[in-house]
Amino acid sequence: MNTTASSSGPLAGTRFHRNSAGVLCCEGRPLTEIAQAFGTPCYVYSERTLLQAYQQFAAAAAEKNALICYALKANSNLALIALLAAQGAGFDIVSVGELQRVLAAGGQPDRIVFSGVGKADSEIAAAIAANIKCINIESEAELHRVAEVAAGLKRVAPISMRVNPDIDAKTHPYISTGLKENKFGIPMDQAEAVYRQAKAMPSVLIAGIDCHIGSQITSLSPFLQAVDRVLALADRLAATGIEIQHLDLGGGLGICYDDETPPTPAALLSAVFDRLQQWQQTRRSPRPEILFEFGRAIVGNAGVLLTRVDLLKPGPHKNFAIIDAAMNDLMRPALYEAWHAVVAVTPSGVPEATWDLVGPVCESGDWMARDRRLALSAGDLLAVLSAGAYGMSMSSNYNSRPRAAEVLIDAQGQAHLIRRREEFADLIAAESIPDYLRK
Ligand code: LLP
Repeated sequence: MNTTASSSGPLAGTRFHRNSAGVLCCEGRPLTEIAQAFGTPCYVYSERTLLQAYQQFAAAAAEKNALICYALKANSNLALIALLAAQGAGFDIVSVGELQRVLAAGGQPDRIVFSGVGKADSEIAAAIAANIKCINIESEAELHRVAEVAAGLKRVAPISMRVNPDIDAKTHPYISTGLKENKFGIPMDQAEAVYRQAKAMPSVLIAGIDCHIGSQITSLSPFLQAVDRVLALADRLAATGIEIQHLDLGGGLGICYDDETPPTPAALLSAVFDRLQQWQQTRRSPRPEILFEFGRAIVGNAGVLLTRVDLLKPGPHKNFAIIDAAMNDLMRPALYEAWHAVVAVTPSGVPEATWDLVGPVCESGDWMARDRRLALSAGDLLAVLSAGAYGMSMSSNYNSRPRAAEVLIDAQGQAHLIRRREEFADLIAAESIPDYLRK
């Protein structure tokens, strides 16, 4: 089949191409067929695009004593976890639910790190019982909690402190995490004292230092500044006799949604490894293992959201196209005013106009894209691009809308349903009407 690859933009380097008839395909399979078979809204993921992204990180980390963890929160579908687990990926989790997903999908416990500001006792206990690699501690209070839970289990919990390096990642305020006004991490100037406390606790073992400064970061410098601050802390700790085994540098590498040009995985990792190499020359202890926690850069451009134009509502002030995907399916535009490219799956014969693409949910914030030049007719199939990360994982049942189906396209272009569309019975499965309200 004659296919055209995009040389720039969100589809560049992916397995989503247009065929000779101009129809958007994944691995040569027209997305019109996917919509026909599975309905809309529907998330479609490309196995090869996902694996290519992961392998770029894995190749850059090869022979560097480094572990690429996949941050499950970006997309926690079991099939995607299983694909990454088979590659030997590690995983960054933030709840016991995510722990159970990794274990259910065949991920190795000793490659799991557990992040998050508020882990419940039961979650900490489950993580220790599963023998995960490390618990990333975000406060002094949490250190005490982990130590107590571990002591109760007669175990020693491997821990690292997530420090807040106070760096401006220059990203959306809701996804910036490394500034001192953010809730995340232990302030740098308190970190040594917390490490000293940990050292005196028999039920925890100091494994590493952890940081994560934000998400959708599109330049190298915030990462390198964070590395420098973490290395300076490692030196101060070493001077007090605390040697760490690993440095977890978090995730946050951005992707192209529109025309952003973030560093490639290879460029980011080689810049980081260069810094580490220089630093290593100044010290005598063995070089620590390096961990990363990437989510969006692995799965973001491996997925699109298929949606159909339901109705057109042109007007004197605005032209609205009501589509069948809403803020409950992909909430990034409503929550962050995030921009996602939206393209027609099949070329259209009608003239272009400027449209706001909005969902059926009863909120003015329920928009997918605004002021887009598109040639639209009712019934057209559209693809919302760059929807693989923080799409399905942030979806909800708001307005009693069943969650979308998810489909994985394998390297041969075969489509696999990896999550069926929800039905009404799923929506009410956990609810009940007490007897006294029943007539
Ligand atoms: N590690 C930690 C501790 C994190 O908090 C996050 C993301 C990651 C790793 C992965 O970051 P990534 O490589 O995906 O940038 N919902 C927002 C993004 C929130 C990110 C939260 N933390 C969005 O849709 O843009």
